[in-house]
Amino acid sequence: MSRTKSTEAIHGRKDPLYRGANYPIFTSTTFAVGKSDDYDKFIGDQEEFYIYSRYSNPTVRNVEEKIAALENAQDALLFSSGMAAITTSMLAFARKGDTIVALRRLYGMAYRFLRDVLPNFGIDVHFVDESQLYQAHNEFPGARLYYFETPINPTTDCVSIEKTVKSAKKAGALSIMDNTFASPVNQNPLDFGVDIVVHSATKYIGGHSDIMAGAAAGSKELMKSVREYLKAFGGCINPMDAYMLDRSLKTLKVRVERQNKSAQRIAEFFLRQKKVTNVYYPGIPSDRNYKVAKKQMMGFGGMLCIELADLGAAKTFCDSLELGLNATSLGGVETLVSIPVLTSHIKMSPEELASARVSEGMVRISVGLEDPDDLIRDFKNALAKVGA
Ligand SMILES: Cc1ncc(COP(=O)(O)O)c(C=O)c1O
Repeated sequence: MSRTKSTEAIHGRKDPLYRGANYPIFTSTTFAVGKSDDYDKFIGDQEEFYIYSRYSNPTVRNVEEKIAALENAQDALLFSSGMAAITTSMLAFARKGDTIVALRRLYGMAYRFLRDVLPNFGIDVHFVDESQLYQAHNEFPGARLYYFETPINPTTDCVSIEKTVKSAKKAGALSIMDNTFASPVNQNPLDFGVDIVVHSATKYIGGHSDIMAGAAAGSKELMKSVREYLKAFGGCINPMDAYMLDRSLKTLKVRVERQNKSAQRIAEFFLRQKKVTNVYYPGIPSDRNYKVAKKQMMGFGGMLCIELADLGAAKTFCDSLELGLNATSLGGVETLVSIPVLTSHIKMSPEELASARVSEGMVRISVGLEDPDDLIRDFKNALAKVGA
């Protein structure tokens, strides 16, 4: 029977032994062969032949299949962190002498990997802004990779996936996109022609601020290449964490849909507050990103950003919250707030902050699953403490 991807995220593989509601955790690092000649199956890449858990593991495989279904991909891979997924996917394809075109506004560690690490391997990395990205094939024909993310941290600015892919294809480049901020519930980049989608599964996919994990999804052929590098670099997930992700995936859709709804209400609340000079949320029709977001997102997400008068106001606001935790990361069941200039954008020059469109008074909010009325009360009380 055909089933939708949200149903697939709940059911996946069946318990082969006892019809348990959950697929078992196979903790074994090694799996015996029945006969010595069976090792041939490993050389022949038979998918259901397990020999060593860094290569693959049934508990991990169950979750990889679910993530592939959620991203409309032929296959997917799990990793020990989002950074392991990002770096392994890039290094599987970038070679000495290659050019990578990357969006300038990226998750900080991905940016530093591109800026500080890849050039050591003889790879040229060029950072561009959105409008340059759409035309980058003119400047960088023959580029090996395009790397970008949307919505962008912390302003939730949206990059046109369609335009980026068009340019990547003209350049003859593979495109890799970080879909962490949206989650597979709100956005499926492969539907717009992206080659590989990567996630920090630590965020919405894990959803409870208790699992470090990463994922990549794409065609069978591309995932086969990435798996070879995953095996070599060793950034595999352990089966216990994979099981935790499996449990999280069962509620991903309801969690994210509720976070979308709450974020929309909270963004609308902030729009009515005098002390909030700007609200950035792609679900607001007057938002600069609404049109692009509407085209490529199925939901507008649980991330929003507000701007207060200055850093002092942002600090007072964050320090006065009772429910919202002043913490980095995102996508969990509890609401998190953070001040970008003190966290993701710390020590950046005024020019760098301007090009990231980040101001000192900004507060990023990852909306959790609390009752939105309670959250709005908490935000209202905190705003009351901010000087007029
Ligand atoms: C958008 C984005 N991509 C990737 C990462 C890296 O993921 P991880 O911390 O799981 O390595 C993060 C982490 O904050 C992120 O926010």
